[in-house]
Amino acid sequence: MTRRFDPAPLATELVDELLDLARRAPSAGFSQGAHFLTLEGESLRQFWELTGAGEWFSKRQPGVLAAPLIVLPLADPSAYTARFTERDKAGHGLEVAANWEVPFWLTDTAMAVQNLLLLADERGLGALYFGIFRNARQLLDTLGVPAHVLQVGAVALGHRAADDGPSGSPVTRRRRPPADVIHHHHW
Ligand SMILES: Cc1cc2nc3c(=O)[nH]c(=O)nc-3n(C[C@H](O)[C@H](O)[C@H](O)COP(=O)(O)O)c2cc1C
Repeated sequence: MTRRFDPAPLATELVDELLDLARRAPSAGFSQGAHFLTLEGESLRQFWELTGAGEWFSKRQPGVLAAPLIVLPLADPSAYTARFTERDKAGHGLEVAANWEVPFWLTDTAMAVQNLLLLADERGLGALYFGIFRNARQLLDTLGVPAHVLQVGAVALGHRAADDGPSGSPVTRRRRPPADVIHHHHW
């Protein structure tokens, strides 16, 4: 994750290309309920202010605020409940969102986000995925997002500042050894 951005804008064609590639993540039943909403200029300013993320980062990691673009990954459960009423998918009760033990709209949107993070890295760009902790619904309403569509955090995207380096929790925490998290035959 990058927490020091260069404020230079990203070319529109590049952003479009990355988002088109990123959305080609797997999706349950090929429901494709993951959306991206890009914020720049006035909508970006509204994002920082409404969510309180601007104030949060300004005190801790102000380099995040230089990012020229925020991508909001959004998940539409109705794409899944509708798809799982179709003949080849019906019969599991999954036409009701509450019945999904794993809400695959979140899974699929997270996969698309990971694609975006990997693509950004491949192109030498920086990206930071972070959570929205305040006024998320108010923000989505302001941006015209339908009421049933869910936010799945935010991705700041841009060129990395020349002085960008390791930041965040990995600076103070070690990576857990493989044996801690990879289990064979039995947990
Ligand atoms: C679900 C999720 C939520 C995260 N939320 C935040 C956040 O709110 N603020 C932040 O600075 N980083 C956030 N991160 C980034 C993690 O801190 C970071 O991915 C982790 O420490 C590993 O660092 P690396 O991605 O640089 O390897 C989040 C990551 C994930 C996957």
